Parts: sequence; structure tokens; C-alpha cells
Amino acid sequence: MVMLLFLVLLKLIPANCLDFVQGRIVGGYTPSPNSIKYIVSLQSSNGQHFCGGSLVHKSWVLTAAHCNIGMDQMMVVAGDYTLGAYEGTEQYSKPLLLNLHPQYNRSTNNADILLIQLSAPIELNRYVSLAPLPKQNAGLLAGRVCQVSGWGSISHSGGLTPLTLRTVKLPIVSTSKCNSSNSFSGNITTNMICAGSSTGGKDACKGDSGGPLVCDGRVYGLVSWGNGCGDSRFPGVYTAVSRFRRWIDQTIYNPYSQCLKSAGLFSRED
Ligand SMILES: *[C@@H]1O[C@H](CO)[C@@H](O)[C@H](O)[C@H]1NC(C)=O
Ligand SMILES: *[C@@H]1O[C@H](CO)[C@@H](O)[C@H](O)[C@H]1NC(C)=O
Ligand SMILES: *[C@@H]1O[C@H](CO)[C@@H](O)[C@H](O)[C@H]1NC(C)=O
Repeated sequence: MVMLLFLVLLKLIPANCLDFVQGRIVGGYTPSPNSIKYIVSLQSSNGQHFCGGSLVHKSWVLTAAHCNIGMDQMMVVAGDYTLGAYEGTEQYSKPLLLNLHPQYNRSTNNADILLIQLSAPIELNRYVSLAPLPKQNAGLLAGRVCQVSGWGSISHSGGLTPLTLRTVKLPIVSTSKCNSSNSFSGNITTNMICAGSSTGGKDACKGDSGGPLVCDGRVYGLVSWGNGCGDSRFPGVYTAVSRFRRWIDQTIYNPYSQCLKSAGLFSRED
């Protein structure tokens, strides 16, 4: 299984492999500037984009658990459009607390979901808004067309280049088809949804991890994993956000559990 986390250790990778590593939304297009107002870029301490996320509260970002590279290494950037270019709409915030889902399993990718509490709230304005979420256990029918968005990352020289947000429209693929022996053969859990074009060529890819799959205006999926990018046999696999709506609300709105967690009174990773 190929995790879609953009490799942070690009320096270790020969230049001729960069095209593969650098993947971004496959087969998509550039949306108009700041039209997807809740998407955030997660960047490493040297300003390199490695994952996407969604602003779900002025102090909280929703992303994939496999995007956790350590709190000290992460910066959240809201209001961005072209990476590496200052547009005057960006807002930066460091994480205060990482809340990894207790059921996250990095070998199966189950419960690949992470809430990041920000050290300073993001101001909501013309360029930044909150992502609407689905209700607990809300389902999606196969064939429903959704939209996934994300950024590519780094130039061949290894420096930052201006790269604009990309987006692509994709239909939901039924779990039975996605979990069948022709596809992911039993590796799809109830906490995952699949989306991809039946003819291939359209997909999320490395560097898009954690970013939003939006259906009916709500973030139903988080880019999680796959097998290559844009292969019609293997749709993209997304964390099913509707399975975690209650957990998200409890985490954000329960001050008591937040106190316990920030005091380290119980483990966040078991
Ligand atoms: C992850 O899932 C695998 C396969 O189901 C299981 O063997 C393993 O114990 C799980 N790991 C954790 C940390 O839950
Ligand atoms: C399913 O998971 C197993 C165990 O992780 C792995 O060996 C296998 O390649 C996976 N198959 C697909 C199609 O993802
Ligand atoms: C996918 O298939 C495996 C193996 O048959 C099964 O255990 C699992 O429950 C299936 N997933 C879903 C969501 O039905």
C-alpha cells in the first residue's frame, strides 16, 4: 500500500525520481483563487508543503493521521493559493496539540484522521472560511460526484516554486467494488470511502494527503492512500469523515477532555 504523504526527505531522492514523488492532483484543473476557502497547506519547518487539511474551527484543522510528522515540524497555512508566493491572504499558525485518532493503525490505514489544535486562531475573512462536515454516519451513493483538491510541492531543483491549488471531480466508488479482489481485495474498512474515475486518469496523489474530498459542499473524505495515482482499477481511498463526526465534535467542543490531553494524563496514541 502506498501512503500518499508527500515525502519530506526529498533531499535523499535522486532528481530523476522527483517527477514520481512530486505528484499532484491528477487530471484536474486550477480553481479560481481562494475559491476553496477552508483548505490549508501543512508545511514543514523549512516551508515545504507536505499535506493538505481543512479548517473546521478557527482553532482546529482536520487532516490525515499519516500526515503527522511531529508537532514541532509543522506549520499550518490558511488562505493560500500559490505556494511559495506571498499573496497577502496567507495566515500562519503552529500546532498547539495533535489529537490523533486512538484507533489509527498505520499498517492498515484504518482511522487515518488527525485533529490539529492551533496555537493561534485563524481569522475568518474573504479568503478563509470553515469547512462544513457531514452528519455522523451520513452515507454517499456510488456515482455521486465529489471534488478533491490539493497542491503539488517542490521544483526539480529542490527549491520552492509557485504552485497553485488543483482540483478534480471524481465519482464515489462503492465499497463492495473497491474492496473486491479486482481492487483492494479486503483492505477497505468501514472507516474508508473510495472515489475515482472508472476510466482512470483522475485522482489525488502524493502531497494531496489529508486534503478534502468534498461532496454536496461537505468534507466527506480525507485523502488517505491508494495504489499508484489515476489507475482505474485502484480508486483513491479516503478517510470517511462521517464516521468520525462525533469524535471531531467531542474533541473540539469538550474542554474537559482537552485539558486532560494537554496535561498528558492519557496517551493519545494507543
Ligand atoms: C493494526 O492492524 C493489524 C491488522 O489488523 C493488527 O494486527 C495490529 O495489531 C493493529 N495495530 C494496532 C496498533 O492496533
Ligand atoms: C492488502 O493488504 C495486504 C496487507 O497489508 C497487502 O499485502 C496487500 O498488498 C494489500 N492489497 C491491496 C490490493 O492493496
Ligand atoms: C472488506 O473485505 C474484508 C475481507 O473480506 C472484510 O473483512 C471487510 O469487512 C470488508 N470491508 C467492508 C467495509 O465491508
